[in-house]
Amino acid sequence: MRPNLKGKHLLTTQDWTKEDIEDVMEVTRKLKEDRYLNIPHDDILKARTFFMLFFEESTRTRNAFEAGITQLGGHAHYLTPKATQIDHGETEQDTIKVLSRYGDGMGIRRSEPGGSKYMKTLASFADIPVLNMQCDDYHPTQALADLFTIKEKFQNDLKNKKFVISWTYAPNYIRPLSMAQSLALLMPRFDMDVVLAHPEEFRLKPEIISQAEKNAEKAGVNFEITHDMDEAFADAHIVYPKSWGPIMHTEDEQEGLDLIDKYPNWVVDQDKMDLTDPESLYMHCMPFDRGVEVTSEVADGEHSVIYDQAENRLHLQKALMALTMA
Ligand code: CP
Repeated sequence: MRPNLKGKHLLTTQDWTKEDIEDVMEVTRKLKEDRYLNIPHDDILKARTFFMLFFEESTRTRNAFEAGITQLGGHAHYLTPKATQIDHGETEQDTIKVLSRYGDGMGIRRSEPGGSKYMKTLASFADIPVLNMQCDDYHPTQALADLFTIKEKFQNDLKNKKFVISWTYAPNYIRPLSMAQSLALLMPRFDMDVVLAHPEEFRLKPEIISQAEKNAEKAGVNFEITHDMDEAFADAHIVYPKSWGPIMHTEDEQEGLDLIDKYPNWVVDQDKMDLTDPESLYMHCMPFDRGVEVTSEVADGEHSVIYDQAENRLHLQKALMALTMA
């Protein structure tokens, strides 16, 4: 392992080399093993502080970071715009310059439009590593934990595994593109053939698709887009069905919600899973609309690895903090 990740920001996995990511996987494995064997590792970040700035709510991301740094011997501060001077207009520069004097790392979640710009600006002034806890474009901690889960389940043999990112029907609100975009960028770099399935209006950003295609070409794997969910699921080794908004088609919220309602059949049930490889994985970052975008039969069924994914957020985020902040 190369000790060159100290102080490095993680805004998107695209900024990290494959070797960087393999180092994260290795440390994640070690920390997970230690925890299972009850071997303490609370000297790694002893007395270190991780600031967590949330513009939106979280169950997994927040608690994995907070429990994680406690297990590494440090402490996390939970911050919101209202609990700081950010709501009064304090700039990205002033916020991070001051926090850099107090602590050792910072995570930010801002998945509303403009979130990635805010994070990038803040990181440009930071003297401590800044980790993206989800923005409008990327969700790197989730995608890396998902890669770790897939590696575990397939014993690192990912060559030409068919990985399907599929849009699903989930009404009520518009979800960001970040999860689908992060998966589209990361999985081809690790030798998987990626299929992206969605109704036409639910396309991802063109610059992300272009980069995902380049990543696939470099790795010698396929990256394809289809508008047919059944075709995507056929013989898939991993399916990752997840809702996102028609953000590239319309900025009008009501029009977006109406478009989602056009596709109520884009849901995952046992018939869909029967199209996949017998050993396939059903994955979801959670939270999901149980009983709407996926049946409980599938979510709790033999293909589902959703709780392993959620658990691996803990080990993975500990590895990220240990490598960037120690
Ligand atoms: N998957 C995920 O990021 O979950 P939370 O929104 O609960 O953090």
